[in-house]
This record gives sequence, C-alpha cells and structure tokens, in this order.
Amino acid sequence: MTVNYRCPVCGEKLKLSENSYRCRNRHCFDLSAKGYVNLLLTRGRNPAKAGDAPNMIRARSDFLGTDAYKPLADRLCETVRELTAGIKEPVVIDSGCGEGYYTVKIASSLKDAAVFGIDISKSGIAHAAALKKAAGCNSLQLAVASSFELPFGKNTADVLVSVFAPVSNDEYSRVLRPGGKLIVVSPTPMHLFRLKALIYDEPYQNKPNRYGLRSFELTNEQQLEYSFTLATDKQAADLFAMTPYYYKTSPEAKARLIGCAPFETEAGFLIQVFTKII
Ligand SMILES: C[S@@+](CC[C@H](N)C(=O)[O-])C[C@H]1O[C@@H](n2cnc3c(N)ncnc32)[C@H](O)[C@@H]1O
Ligand SMILES: [Zn+2]
Repeated sequence: MTVNYRCPVCGEKLKLSENSYRCRNRHCFDLSAKGYVNLLLTRGRNPAKAGDAPNMIRARSDFLGTDAYKPLADRLCETVRELTAGIKEPVVIDSGCGEGYYTVKIASSLKDAAVFGIDISKSGIAHAAALKKAAGCNSLQLAVASSFELPFGKNTADVLVSVFAPVSNDEYSRVLRPGGKLIVVSPTPMHLFRLKALIYDEPYQNKPNRYGLRSFELTNEQQLEYSFTLATDKQAADLFAMTPYYYKTSPEAKARLIGCAPFETEAGFLIQVFTKII
C-alpha cells in the first residue's frame, strides 16, 4: 500500500515531486538534503526548541551506539515482525523515534514494509536520517511532526511503536487501522536502579505509566530485564543525560558519576502490545 503524508495545513494528500511534497491546495514542504521532511507547523511554538535538544540527542545516540540496549531493539524487531506476519506491505510508524536507533533496526528487519519515523525534534530526525543513510535503509521515511498531530490519514498503519515517548490515545487510534497494534515500551520499576542509587541518597523505583488508552485493549505484555556494564564514565554520563532525572539533579549529585566506570546496572523494559478496539 502506498502511504502519502497528509498536509499539516489542510489535511489533503501530499505528493512528492522534485524534492518537494505538495498538496492540491499548493502547500509545499521541501525534502531536506539529509532526506527528511519537516511537517511541523510553527503555530505558537519555537520549532528549534521542540522535543529533545541536540545535546540530549547526541548523548542518547552515543549511548545507544554502544548497543547496551540492543536486546530491546532485537525484541522490538521480533515483535513487529510477528505482528505484521501475513500482512502484505505492512505500514509501521515509530512515533517519537528520536535519533532513530530502533526505527532503522525495525525498518531493516522487515521485508516489503513502509516504515515511518516521526519526532518533534528536528535534530533527532536529522540524526535518524544519517543512521538511515549509513544503513542503506530505503524503506524508511522520516518527518519532523508531533505525535499528537500525526501527518497520516485515518486507518493508515498496521503497527505503531512508541519507545519511551509520548502516547496519544486519540491520535494513535485515528491513524491505526481497526485491529491495528500499538507497542509501548516503558521502564520497569528497577530500570537503572543501581545507577540511581549511586547518585541519590534515596533512590526510587519507577512507577508504572498510565496512558489512558481507552480505544485499545492490552493484548500482550512482556518484561525484558538484564544487567549491563557502563564501560566508561562517558557512557555513564550519556546514559544519565538521556533520563528524565537529569535536569532535576544537582551538579554535586551528578559528580558522583565521575570515576564510577566500569559500573554495572540493570536495564528493565516493559513491552506492552495494545490492540485498537474502537
Ligand atoms: C526519551 S526520547 C525516546 C526516543 C526514542 N524513541 C528512543 O527510545 O531512543 C523521547 C522522544 O520523544 C520526542 N517527543 C517529545 N514530545 C513529542 C511530540 N509531541 N511528538 C513527537 N515526538 C515527541 C522527543 O523529541 C524525544 O526524541
Ligand atoms: Zn495542504
């Protein structure tokens, strides 16, 4: 199935010609030299500040580049393959794909699929475009856009993936086809606990996320837990910089990371599969 982006201004189909996406109302969005399109309307927000900032994207891509979370990437690829088995030319969207570590792996692991990565952070999508190019992954298309205003028509996708990213009941149920699957990855209570114990006097376990997914039912849930070693202080610092705790932590507490490597901590991922019921 050919999937066209929808124009963020008028909702009509966008068609690509001569490196620009145009709708019939002549709204036009250029494909950047890096190979992505910016479909985020600036309306009331500063696009340069939307989503994760370049330093967070860099820290996350350096950390993920060490393959410490490859077991999660492998499990996600396997899950998406299972959920799309038997579907001719499945459509998969990674919403809030960040720098594209999982997106490129998912796209590379599927045959005859159309895979889309969207993120509100321009530097995230620019990084994903570089990863896509390095992997020669032509089935992946990348756009700057919001998870709350996805640039797709209704009932478009077979699978929607959200890894540590915002979740929207209404928008995901609009874009997924009836019976479509939503994969949500979130941290388990013990995720990075030893790292937090190093930094905080009273580390706490992560609380389960509540997404309010009233148009979906939970149809599968698995936990993936393992220990891994932070081999260098930089790897530890990159990992900490990509967590939500980073900005709430004092410089003194952050300094406890210096000299900690090699250091073992735990990764814990909850992988939930929801099925669209409405
Ligand atoms: C913790 S990161 C996870 C990125 C990626 N999925 C990963 O696991 O490596 C959360 C991502 O959500 C993006 N984000 C935040 N608000 C968003 C929104 N409204 N629409 C799309 N992406 C958003 C951020 O820019 C960031 O890249
Ligand atoms: Zn338009």
